[in-house]
Amino acid sequence: MWKCVSPLISIFSETKLIPDSNSGIKQLFYSISDTEYLEPFCLSLEKLQEVSARLKRDFSRGLGKHSHHKAPVKMLPTFVRATPDGTEKGDFLALDLGGTNFRVLHVRVVEEQQKVLKMDSQICAIPQDMMLGTGEQLFDHIAACLSDFLVSQDLKGQTLPLGFTFSFPCEQKEIDKSILIRWTKGFNCSGVEGKDVVKLLKEAIHRRGDYDIGSVAMVNDTVGTMMSCGYRDQSCEIGMIIGTGTNACYMEEMKNVKRVEGEDGRMCINTEWGGFGDDGSLKDIQTEFDRVVDKMSINTGVHTFEKMISGMYLGEIVRLVLVKLTEDKLLFKGQSSEALKTPGRFETKFISEIEEQDNGLENAQNILTKLGLKWELVDSRVVRLVCDTISSRSARLCAAALATIANRIRVNRGLDHLKTTVGVDGTVYRKHPNFSDELKATVRLLAPECDITFLVSEDGSGKGAAMVTAVAQRLALQSRLLEDSDGESDEEEEEDK
Ligand code: BGC
Repeated sequence: MWKCVSPLISIFSETKLIPDSNSGIKQLFYSISDTEYLEPFCLSLEKLQEVSARLKRDFSRGLGKHSHHKAPVKMLPTFVRATPDGTEKGDFLALDLGGTNFRVLHVRVVEEQQKVLKMDSQICAIPQDMMLGTGEQLFDHIAACLSDFLVSQDLKGQTLPLGFTFSFPCEQKEIDKSILIRWTKGFNCSGVEGKDVVKLLKEAIHRRGDYDIGSVAMVNDTVGTMMSCGYRDQSCEIGMIIGTGTNACYMEEMKNVKRVEGEDGRMCINTEWGGFGDDGSLKDIQTEFDRVVDKMSINTGVHTFEKMISGMYLGEIVRLVLVKLTEDKLLFKGQSSEALKTPGRFETKFISEIEEQDNGLENAQNILTKLGLKWELVDSRVVRLVCDTISSRSARLCAAALATIANRIRVNRGLDHLKTTVGVDGTVYRKHPNFSDELKATVRLLAPECDITFLVSEDGSGKGAAMVTAVAQRLALQSRLLEDSDGESDEEEEEDK
């Protein structure tokens, strides 16, 4: 049954928590679930189908040579032309930048065992001020961390090929030329947007002059995730991240990738689905709380879809709803706290803790106490309902987007039925107690002709980057990105598929 007809259903499915006799509490739940508060987060199946249809159209716009420049979903060619075939091998370095930490890894791909081994790795924190500082500072920091690592591994004399997982939207010109379109997820270093990130990295290494690197392959984390799962399961043709940010990639037919020369075979497309809605196409499902989150973010007006889904924002959406319920005296007897009023203080990980099956209510109560709130039992239940409603919306929106990809692959290949695997990673997917189940159940409803296996990636950003480098070496394929042009939309060219 579709749970989100009204969030009340989820509350009353916990009827043991709400004594029937207590009509006052029932009334409270009714008012919280009415149009003003939680109902706008509840998307019907029909609405999700509509969202999927809009995304389908945006995929075509993003791929089109003439429509790409205005498309909110960028559908970026990755120059990854093949998934692993199991014959890759060798030693690689991998860099992973995309969250609050930066990682350096030494990875070995062992053909005989079909294994990707992490030999060693090191984490370097990226301080908040560096996330908002200059690009030169950031890349000097990266080059310094890599230098320390090479020394510690006794690798400084070697020039190993390097896979660079850089989890931001980049226009990739070639496998080793990648222009940052925009920062996301709290990064905003000056002088990097519009520049080739590989060049910035190499320049920082040259500034040091104490070591060198071999060929570089640029990788989005979705691609790394797909490729790391692809070594284990060769039908893995989709990579998805639901963590600090959200995004997915998949193998598209070259003949549909209008911006890259060549018609044969396939290429992995980094959808950058986080940008879905940046042209206003999701206005009808954005709530007042989503609009505040967007307004307060450092990249207002962009990555609309991501802001409704990913870990960077979910906690803040919950906080804003709780603030409003408190102001309207429906929570904590109208008594707020400094912590609740402070942006960022309700962390996304709290949502997972509060929704835990057995200890959720107790966790909620501990969290509320830590936030300086005076709660009663009913408050903790309401908070749990708010968390459930907002994380469910996130899972369902992701499901709608994933179903769009799966359906597209199926239609591309002229199949009645598609069996495929998606490699997944990200803290929201991994850590939330119901997220993955909810996502899978919704995908089944939205893409009934697709049978999707979900494989949680083991270190896609590290091992996957090495795998991309290895496959690139194996194929040594080169394609050239064609110039974009203004003009007739080529959406229609694909509309009937
Ligand atoms: C970035 C994507 C990335 C995703 C998941 C988004 O903010 O734009 O490139 O794949 O986060 O890390």
